[in-house]
Amino acid sequence: MPGEVQRGLEDVVALESRICFIDGREGRLLYRGYDIRDLAAHATFEEVAYLLWHGRLPTAAELGELKRQLEALRSVPDELVRELYELPMGANPMDVLRTAVSALAIYEPEQAGPGPSSIGGAQHLTAALPTILGAYHRRRMQLPDLVPRPGLSHAAYLVYALLNREPTELEARAVEVALILHADHDLNASTFAARVTASTLSDLYSAVTSAVGALKGPLHGGANERVVELLEEIGTPEKVEGAVRAKLARHERIMGFGHRVYKVEDPRATILREWSRRLGEAKGNLRYYRLLEKMVEVVHREKGLYPNLDLYSGSVYTLLGVPIDLFTPVFAASRVVGWTAHVLEEYDDLRLIRPVSRYVGPTDLVYAPVGERS
Ligand code: CMC
Repeated sequence: MPGEVQRGLEDVVALESRICFIDGREGRLLYRGYDIRDLAAHATFEEVAYLLWHGRLPTAAELGELKRQLEALRSVPDELVRELYELPMGANPMDVLRTAVSALAIYEPEQAGPGPSSIGGAQHLTAALPTILGAYHRRRMQLPDLVPRPGLSHAAYLVYALLNREPTELEARAVEVALILHADHDLNASTFAARVTASTLSDLYSAVTSAVGALKGPLHGGANERVVELLEEIGTPEKVEGAVRAKLARHERIMGFGHRVYKVEDPRATILREWSRRLGEAKGNLRYYRLLEKMVEVVHREKGLYPNLDLYSGSVYTLLGVPIDLFTPVFAASRVVGWTAHVLEEYDDLRLIRPVSRYVGPTDLVYAPVGERS
């Protein structure tokens, strides 16, 4: 017989993993044993990708090789680009991304796995997501088509693909830190979705397609878009108090606050807050930073909630000029590393994920032919 129902699977330990450790009471996050604060201070995104996929930091030679591989894997089949151009230009970019990831599987079944070859798929998906997003976004904005630009780091390439310009050093590092902070987070909803799909022995691209769908929701990756929409609606720090209180009185959620696992401030939010300030100062625009500081004060006082990562990511992207509807796709362009690391781990130690529900519907109903039903 099924045991107690844990709504939302809260606190349910579903599997063993060596990838990510979260201490929600201490506000501590480790990737493969390394503190996120150290990685955000010193590592590159490529190093973190290697770490998450392979379980250890790369040597200089291994890192050089991964950078070369990722750069070489940035292109996607021409047929796929033509398919992207056929999509309605008003489409939600997360729908476009989900469609593109799904379609990519058709062009490279040998990399899709399941199995050891899936690391090739993981690298290609990571390298190609900026290209997919850039191809679609440039077309809808009537920017020049994306052409290769050798020598850029993954973070700088993402900015170039989307905005048709290379970032400054400070901008590139801000994006790189944001990508590092988003790269993995244990069994969050989208990663769990990926692992459930992989646990049926389905392929890597199907698993990532499931994950993109789960990330899209406003309670998960979609929160960062809603944060900036709210900031625009509120306008000035003096209006924050009234706006927040009114929302709470209507029992609405304030996006960017609260977390299932963290009972203190999300350590990623602490790091990204500093980058939001640094970037704002460099650009002479601290408007979002000041609004966010006021929101943090009011939401904590009124509801006891702490900010999560999504509170600050949108402010960083907006300062760069990234449009709001690309925030969640940028999240995906980083989390793809975590999704694929978890899928590879699932393939290594696979057991079909199949929980049960507690049935609370009727029993013993008697079937009546359709003509006899009222
Ligand atoms: N604003 C207002 N009230 C909130 C919020 C919030 N952001 N978060 C939680 N609460 C309240 C909620 O209304 C409930 O109150 P009550 O007990 O009075 O009904 C209580 O706190 C518990 O909420 P819950 O939904 O049962 O808690 P949870 O662990 O499922 O919530 C969460 C986690 C992230 C879904 C939630 O905090 C939330 O909706 N936050 C806003 C969305 C958001 O910022 N998402 C990004 C998460 S971090 C990045 C990522 O992983 O994607």
